[in-house]
Amino acid sequence: MDIKYFDNAATTALDKDTLDRMMSYFSDCFYNPSSIYSASVNAFNAIEEARSKVANALNAKANEIYFTSGGSESDNLALKGFAYANSKKGKHIITSCIEHPAIINSCKTLEKDGFEVTYGSVLENGIVNLEELENSIREDTILISIMSANNEIGTIQPIKEIGRIAHEHGIKFHTDAVQAIGSLKIDVEDMNIDMLSLSAHKFYGPKGVGALYVRKGTLINRMNDGGHQEKDKRSGTENVPGIVGLGYAIEKAYLYLEENTKKISELRDYYISEVEKRIPYVRLNGDRVNRLPGNANFSFEYIEGESILLLLDRKGICVSTGSACSSKSLEPSYVLLSIGLPHEIAHGSIRVSIGKHNTKEEVDYLIDTLVEVVEKLRNMSPLYEEVRK
Ligand SMILES: Cc1ncc(COP(=O)(O)O)c(C=O)c1O
Repeated sequence: MDIKYFDNAATTALDKDTLDRMMSYFSDCFYNPSSIYSASVNAFNAIEEARSKVANALNAKANEIYFTSGGSESDNLALKGFAYANSKKGKHIITSCIEHPAIINSCKTLEKDGFEVTYGSVLENGIVNLEELENSIREDTILISIMSANNEIGTIQPIKEIGRIAHEHGIKFHTDAVQAIGSLKIDVEDMNIDMLSLSAHKFYGPKGVGALYVRKGTLINRMNDGGHQEKDKRSGTENVPGIVGLGYAIEKAYLYLEENTKKISELRDYYISEVEKRIPYVRLNGDRVNRLPGNANFSFEYIEGESILLLLDRKGICVSTGSACSSKSLEPSYVLLSIGLPHEIAHGSIRVSIGKHNTKEEVDYLIDTLVEVVEKLRNMSPLYEEVRK
């Protein structure tokens, strides 16, 4: 069956031209970039070229970029690495209750180690409550970590404003930009960002490679012991093909940013308006305006998201009920509960994330199939029966 892929927030297809760039670093130029002989210089140079590409995309300096194994590792390194390196200044961290588990669980680990964490609330549209955030700052607050955009509901946070608040209080600011990079322009200088996490597989690069931006002068400890790679902040022989792929993918993402964003957001808006027109009792989750170009998260009342997902899957359509990390759990999404959805409505939610390869025909197929599937499930739902009486 022909697959219609609408789960680009979970991962994206590696671009063939990016793969081509990576290939020679698996075999022909397989050398260890840390070796001294001249054959390894090409591998070393390839990493440095990728570092410059990442830095250019963020308006950072190349020596502020550290390569990691992906978004989760970057988040762990930012939070724990910063907390342990700066614990003498204070042990209080502020984050939000809708962060990715890589942030929430890093905070839980830090709490076991004597740090205190405030998990700030969000408004109904998923935007961080700025007043509450500022009021939660204390004498011993050392770090604020707020994601640039949410992976489930797509809400884009006022990052520049949060960075400004942090800096006004002499606090460092980290943002998990894993969902934002490749979809939004992020300038670390202009947006007052001190640390930023990103991951290549979210913007048509390879899986298992990411980066952490750390502003010069921001102290972090390394989290894994070993050799001196990545200026002693991340030990382990570098994933050279992956890093080359990351560099090329981020450069390409920003070269085509406007073109892709326009196409993707038009398809997303079309999907949203058709769903609202053709399916009763739906609720769009997240902010209508400040949302990632490809994200549309709907709750369909009186039915279960899992059932919708399975019936769509039978028709070759890939969507998600939440984030890929929690989609195997039957608990309703904590993000949807945090924006105030009751359990039963949170349970009936489907995230569609449109990418650059999706077409209008595919979106039409998705909408038509969804209309059928929702109707079929509602016809079997005793709850819906009550409503129709
Ligand atoms: C917001 C956010 N942060 C972090 C991650 C983890 O990234 P990775 O899969 O590269 O470890 C994800 C992945 O879905 C994400 O959406």
